[in-house]
Amino acid sequence: MNRRLWLTRIVKGFTLTGAGFIAYPFFRALIPVGGNDASLEVKVDDLKPGQSKIVHWRGRDLVVQKRSAQMISTIEEGDIDLKDPASAKSSQPGFAENQYRSLRPEIFVTYNLCTHLGCQVTESTDSRLGFSCPCHQSDYDLSGRVVSGAAAPTNLEIPNYRFISGNTLLLEQIDT
Ligand code: FES
Repeated sequence: MNRRLWLTRIVKGFTLTGAGFIAYPFFRALIPVGGNDASLEVKVDDLKPGQSKIVHWRGRDLVVQKRSAQMISTIEEGDIDLKDPASAKSSQPGFAENQYRSLRPEIFVTYNLCTHLGCQVTESTDSRLGFSCPCHQSDYDLSGRVVSGAAAPTNLEIPNYRFISGNTLLLEQIDT
């Protein structure tokens, strides 16, 4: 191999490697964190009371929230007029058919898609409420239960999950 050809191959090699390093973060950002597995472990020890985080799982976003004592008291006071207070018409596992709509009162897990037309809800600025939909202003309480008079027909959907340790829960797909 002559010297010129050898140098050309070295330069091409460096160029391809550099392009790979530049492109990797871009393509990595397109891959949802959390993936598409049938189950996903989620740690909650990084959350302080009142904080929440978004988890991506199987193409959808979920809110994982650590409730503060004040939030739990607000739910227990139950003075908001709700469309489906007992979640009889809403979608959740059996363990979430309670006022907290969760396994443990202090940890709340919900899909964050409005049950009207599927817009992403955001955390409410009203401390008595949990979530609000920016599309047609449906409000949900701190347990994701829709407030009476809202366009949304049912409460936010709750996924199936269980705790596998004190601070780790496992989201699991239910076979239908
Ligand atoms: Fe949320 Fe219409 S999509 S209120």
